[in-house]
Amino acid sequence: MDFRTDKLLHGGDYNPEQWLKRPDILEKDIDMLEESGCNVVSLGIFSWSTLEPEEGVFHFGWLQEIIDKLYKRGISTILATPSGARPKWMADKYPEVLRVDETRHRALFGFRHNHCYTSPVYREKVHIINKKLAQEVATHPGVILWHISNEYGGECHCPLCQEAFRNWLKEKYQTIENLNDKWCTTFWSHTYNSFDQIESPSKIGETQLHALNLDWKRFVTHQTADFIHHEIAALREGGSTLPTTANLMHYFGGLDYFKIAKEIDVVSWDTYPTWHKEAVIDTAYDNGMCHDLMRSLKGKPFFQMESCPTSTNWQSVSKLKKPGMLFAQSMQAIAHGGEGALYFQIRQSRGASEKFHGAVIDHYGGKDTRVFREVTETGEALLDLAQIAGSTTKAQAAILHDCESRWAMEDAQGPRNMGLHYMNTVKKVYGGLRKLGVNVDFLDMEESLSGYRIVFAPMLYLFRAGIEEKIRNFVADGGTFVMTYWSGVVDENDLCFLGGTPHGLMDVFGLRSTELDALYDQDVNAGVGEGKTYEIRNFCDLVKTNGAETLLAYRDDFYAGYPALTKNVFGEGEAYYVCADFEQAFYDDFCRKLAEEKGLERAAAEIPEGLDVATREDEKYKYLFVQNYGAEPAAFPMDTETYQPMTGEYDGVVRRFETVVFRKEK
Ligand code: GLA
Ligand code: ZN
Repeated sequence: MDFRTDKLLHGGDYNPEQWLKRPDILEKDIDMLEESGCNVVSLGIFSWSTLEPEEGVFHFGWLQEIIDKLYKRGISTILATPSGARPKWMADKYPEVLRVDETRHRALFGFRHNHCYTSPVYREKVHIINKKLAQEVATHPGVILWHISNEYGGECHCPLCQEAFRNWLKEKYQTIENLNDKWCTTFWSHTYNSFDQIESPSKIGETQLHALNLDWKRFVTHQTADFIHHEIAALREGGSTLPTTANLMHYFGGLDYFKIAKEIDVVSWDTYPTWHKEAVIDTAYDNGMCHDLMRSLKGKPFFQMESCPTSTNWQSVSKLKKPGMLFAQSMQAIAHGGEGALYFQIRQSRGASEKFHGAVIDHYGGKDTRVFREVTETGEALLDLAQIAGSTTKAQAAILHDCESRWAMEDAQGPRNMGLHYMNTVKKVYGGLRKLGVNVDFLDMEESLSGYRIVFAPMLYLFRAGIEEKIRNFVADGGTFVMTYWSGVVDENDLCFLGGTPHGLMDVFGLRSTELDALYDQDVNAGVGEGKTYEIRNFCDLVKTNGAETLLAYRDDFYAGYPALTKNVFGEGEAYYVCADFEQAFYDDFCRKLAEEKGLERAAAEIPEGLDVATREDEKYKYLFVQNYGAEPAAFPMDTETYQPMTGEYDGVVRRFETVVFRKEK
């Protein structure tokens, strides 16, 4: 099901249940929401104890009333299912709903996001309230979307989850012999006699069977996805046909988001960049990359569900967003293909753990605040850009970023236990492309590679079945594939491939990886060639070429002169192998060379440093977003006859934290 709106969403998490005894404040909130150009709020996320104060006693009136009042003032509702935090009566009466940690201790009541995903009681209670919300609340025309729970994550090791895990394994492996083979359990005599003996990984028990760890992570995703499915089934049973979202988190490694995204209709995510900690453009690239990843999960527009209007209260330093940053961050979500920018939270709570978390309306409560002004400016800009809703991002370049490979790699006990710098390597590739204004998609190994001109695979350690064929065909058909060291090392059970790596692709790359040298933090090597020298750290793969051309060679160590970058022509295409962990400058030059050679579409001919430039398009127009995250104003000359500015004050220069959006007819 598609989620479509004719406007860009602007609003945020709103918790009126905290203010039911202050009708004056609730009235004022609606005025302020309207004035700030907010057109949507998320309601009910943590409202279970207000919605069902005692088992089977439901109070929905307050929620219905607020939804109605908001609707009459043009503000829609994203209605949450309340499963992110359960009421105390439930924990007391049914302790099985409480999560058990890996040391096999059951939690006491408290916190949130800590329920068992398997518990039939929890599932039943969720079913009942979700269905009722669908029947009695979501029928209001003000409700436009379901917000399923909140930030799914974590795992439960209770007996019910153990049993579900064993059943999942039984279905997957059929026989215990098969499981023993695939898990390599003869190692250290960890052989199982039956499925009943298997337990989830635990720091006080088994952690050394990598295949067990990997399957457990897969199971946690499976069980969470099943829980989401169950939540949504209750809504459908209650008659609701509204689309669904779940709010995801920044590079969260606990769940395979490609699988989670299949359960919902539209992806949304919660973004809390540490602005002003590092060079602002680096933070912007990090945030932009996560937007691109989130968009790629379904290959469809997503939106920013949460962001802080000013500072959070949970980061190590609660740095304020400097003037203009709230606006810039909101616009970046749109630039990267988002359908809206929402905040956490609309009104700051008075007590408990988030009382100092930033909000659109703070404890002072007035409109004459810096934050409120910036929110209002953002609301105006999003209104001006309404026609962009529904347009999409087209990318000719993609990065393979596979959750299972990341899990296995991080668990590998291999060449560099003090840090693989995997995400950093992905970011370097991404940065090289984005500085050229190339739009980037992310793919996992289940996705198709076709349609892209260049695909990068940084550290694709684990090969899921079939990926070799996809890569081979992609290159044979004319694609350019760039893979790095430590790729194609293990199969999907985390068993090392025999017979040479990168597995199944040695002919495609024209080489074999023979040994991998890991470097201490202080060690530096370099790749030299074509009159250039690029610094290398962390990893040096020693490859033996068999047909591949050497473009850069190592400068130092016993492997000086060995290939550091190679290229192999295979079929109609080209396969590059990056043997080492190169500095950013390498990726900048390399991506530029490839983009020029392959004629990759770029948002602009030259992009000054510090700018994030992206495009999206619909049938009629192409939209160009130019954002300046640099320290100085940047000259950005555009032919305004073709590309007409839609927002921002454009005089050939883009000021610091400013966003200029252009539109051109296709
Ligand atoms: C998360 C949660 C919110 C809130 C914010 C605070 O994203 O989903 O409920 O706690 O963090 O930053
Ligand atoms: Zn459990």
